[in-house]
Amino acid sequence: MVDSYGPRFPVRRLRRMRHGQPLRDLVAETSLSISDLVVPIFVAEALDQPREIPSMPGVFQHTVVSVKKAIDEFLELGLKAVIVFGVPDPDKKDAIGSQAWAPDGITQKALATIRQAAGDSLVVMSDLCLDEFTEHGHCGIVDRHGSVDNDATVDLYARIAQSQAAAGADVVAPSGMMDGQVLAIRDALDEDGFESVSILAYAAKYASALFGPFRDAVGVSIADGGDRKTYQQDPRNRREALAEVHQDLLEGADMVMVKPATSYLDIVSDVRKAVDVPVLAYQVSGEYSMICAAASNGWIDGDAVAIEQLVSIKRAGADAILTYFAPRVASLLSGGDARL
Ligand code: PBG
Repeated sequence: MVDSYGPRFPVRRLRRMRHGQPLRDLVAETSLSISDLVVPIFVAEALDQPREIPSMPGVFQHTVVSVKKAIDEFLELGLKAVIVFGVPDPDKKDAIGSQAWAPDGITQKALATIRQAAGDSLVVMSDLCLDEFTEHGHCGIVDRHGSVDNDATVDLYARIAQSQAAAGADVVAPSGMMDGQVLAIRDALDEDGFESVSILAYAAKYASALFGPFRDAVGVSIADGGDRKTYQQDPRNRREALAEVHQDLLEGADMVMVKPATSYLDIVSDVRKAVDVPVLAYQVSGEYSMICAAASNGWIDGDAVAIEQLVSIKRAGADAILTYFAPRVASLLSGGDARL
C-alpha cells in the first residue's frame, strides 16, 4: 500500500513467514536428511577390541568383527552410505605402502566384511590413499630427494583401486591429490572389468590443520615434521579449486568433493555452480572435535551446532556430506528432534 507519504511502514513483514515450526518447515530453502550423510568408518588391524579415538569422542577404531555391529546400527538408523579407512598393523608399514593393495590388507578385509553385512542396502565407499600404509606417512612414494613422486604414486593408486573394487567397494575415493590420479584409476578399474565402480574425487582438498585428530584415528604422523603442502591445496586459493575439479571431471570422476567443509563454503558454492555432477563435502575430524570439545565444556549445544553446520554445508550447495556426526544426527532426525 502506498499513500501520499510513500510506502507504509513496514511494507513487508518478513517475520510472517517465521511463525511456528510447520510454516518454517514449509518454506525452508534447505533440507537435511539421513540419506544426505556418509559415515566414515575406521577398521584397524592390530586391535582385538574396538577403541574410542580420544580426540574424537564417540568415534571408534573397529575390528573386523566389531564393525559388523556398527554397520547394523547404521542400517537401523537409516543411513545409506559409509566410507572405509583401513588402519594397518604399524609393523606392516613400509616405504611404498604395499599393504594398501594387498588382497588380505585391512581395507580389503573391512570392505569384504561390510559388503557381506550390508548386502546392497549400503553404498560402500573406500578412501584410496597411501598415508596410512607408508612408514613416512606421506600420501605417496618419497623419492631420493625427499619429494613425493607423483607419477610413481599414481601407478600404485591404480593397483589400490583394483584391489578395493575386488573386495567390494562401490565407490573409490582417491584422497592423495596427485595429478592424473583419477585417469589412472579409471583406466585400471575398466581394465579389470569394474566399469560400474564409481570415483568420488577428493577434488578440492586443502592442506588443512583441521585434519589433526584424523591422524590419531589412523595412526599417521608425517616423518621429520613434514606436511602435505606440495600436494594438497593452499587455503589462500579459490580459483584453483575449480581447476582441480574440472581436471578430475575430464579424467573421469563421477562425483567431486570439497574438503574441509565449513571453512570452505565459498568453494562448495563455487563448485556447485560450476559442475553438473554430485558435489560432496567432508566435515573433517577437526571440525567434529571442536564442536565436541566446546559442547563438553558446556559452552555450546553440540547437537544444535552440528546440525546448523551441516545445514550450512547443504545450503552452500553440497548434495551429501561425509561427517562423523552422521549416526548422532540420524538419530536426532528420525526422532523428530532436528533442532532446526
Ligand atoms: C588421507 C586422508 C586424510 C583425511 C581423509 N583422507 C588426511 C590427510 O590428508 O592428511 C582427513 C579426514 C579428516 O580429518 O577427518 N588419507
